[in-house]
Amino acid sequence: MSSERSAIILAAGLGTRMKSTKPKVLHELLGRTLLGHVLRSTKGIGPDRRIVVVGAAADQVTAHLEQHSPDVETVFQAEQLGTGHAVRIALESVPELEGTVVVACGDAPLLRPDTLNRLVETHEKAGNAATVLTAVVDDPTGLGRIVRDTDGAVLRNVEHRDADADELAIREINSGTYAFDAAALREQLGKITTANDQGEEYLTDVLELAREAGLPIGAVVVNDPTEVLACNDRAQLAGLRKVLRDRINTELMKSGVTLEDPDTTWIDATVKVAPDVLIRPGCQLKGATAVDTGAEIGPDTTLTDTIVGEGAAVVRSHVDQATVGEGAKVGPFAHLRPASKLAEGAKVGAFAETKNAEIGAGAKIPHLSYVGDATVGASANIGCGVIVANYDGLAKHHTDIGEGVFIGCDSVLIAPVSIGDGAYIAAGSAIGEDVAPGDLAVARARQSAKAGWVAAKRPGTVSDEAAKRALGDGRASGE
Ligand code: UD1
Ligand code: CA
Repeated sequence: MSSERSAIILAAGLGTRMKSTKPKVLHELLGRTLLGHVLRSTKGIGPDRRIVVVGAAADQVTAHLEQHSPDVETVFQAEQLGTGHAVRIALESVPELEGTVVVACGDAPLLRPDTLNRLVETHEKAGNAATVLTAVVDDPTGLGRIVRDTDGAVLRNVEHRDADADELAIREINSGTYAFDAAALREQLGKITTANDQGEEYLTDVLELAREAGLPIGAVVVNDPTEVLACNDRAQLAGLRKVLRDRINTELMKSGVTLEDPDTTWIDATVKVAPDVLIRPGCQLKGATAVDTGAEIGPDTTLTDTIVGEGAAVVRSHVDQATVGEGAKVGPFAHLRPASKLAEGAKVGAFAETKNAEIGAGAKIPHLSYVGDATVGASANIGCGVIVANYDGLAKHHTDIGEGVFIGCDSVLIAPVSIGDGAYIAAGSAIGEDVAPGDLAVARARQSAKAGWVAAKRPGTVSDEAAKRALGDGRASGE
């Protein structure tokens, strides 16, 4: 017998009940599409090839596969004539395929690779023609039922709509995932009919046909029935998301991550979190985010594709495609936009926004600033309300702020401009020309005073009375 292994993933249906222009299998579930999760679990069996059957919105599914799983092959099923039909045309497109063929559904994303491995190993060890993955569930409504004989041997699957009252009472259901021997599958698929309530070619009929041909068939029951949950509408999608969230969060906590409130913590399957990270309530960690040990995240923080270094803290902030260095501090209420890179010990504080900006070691942008398209040297101090004006209405320009620079509050740096190492900028300056290292630049109007203006122009106002009291003039005190 061939030791080849392959997987066929059924993803040709539109998923009408999703009420979406996007095909069901491309809906997102904690960092991957539904199909992406299924591809990931099938990868666990070490397949020589993986074939995805596409049909509805095939262009979108194929584009997604080309981008994320270029090693996967696709087969086009023009009309969705049933799961048996889908597998039949997949097999017809690869006549050379032998060995074990796993068939899985593109809309059942929670299957663990370990479970699929157990299915394949049991199947191969028994030398079965077909082995179906089943689950015992409380509510089998709508699903295929597994009919066994009195000795417990699998006889066949019957679809809900074709089942009689006794069969409807069965709580062991067909997960829609199977391991087949390629040759046996090919042979039995040639025999299936459309004699059922839906008039479709049912893949499930292969079980009974194989048994009738005297071939061994079997079943593997999952330990955790949530693994076989499929998604048909958005309410079920939300249900799956909670199941996966709990699974991810439990694994993280067991690995040494503190989650103060796992119910409000949403961490993508793709995220890496080191032991001894503390995550406070209300956080989302997405995509390629990685958080190193000792870091503290949250509350109420979203990190997307972001690297957080050892011992850093990100508090109540929104961070996208950024790097937060070791021991750096972000927030509360900071917005780090793509290509923000904070070196070790840097700080970006309240109501500060950065974009495409390298913030040097120990540099501080503590409050109310915008720093975009800029380099900030180590230990520089950016005062409250400083704006880097990077855009002239046509193009973005770069601003270079040297090491140890001190920028006074409410200054604007008009790019392109360079502030030399150790320079000072006086508060309220509008800087459009380069400043040499160690200079003080003052770029604001000189102050002037018009003596007695309030008494002359605003007599009798609270301001006038306050001024009079301060100046020791009894006239306005009412005496
Ligand atoms: C199927 C099983 C049922 C099982 C259930 C588990 C059959 C006949 N029934 O039912 O026993 O309990 O899955 O969820 O197999 N697809 C195609 N081409 C087609 C038809 C379907 O690619 O022509 C794809 C769908 O996009 C979907 C998967 O196959 O990803 C399952 O099809 P679906 O129609 O949802 O099967 P169920 O009726 O749920
Ligand atoms: Ca169906």
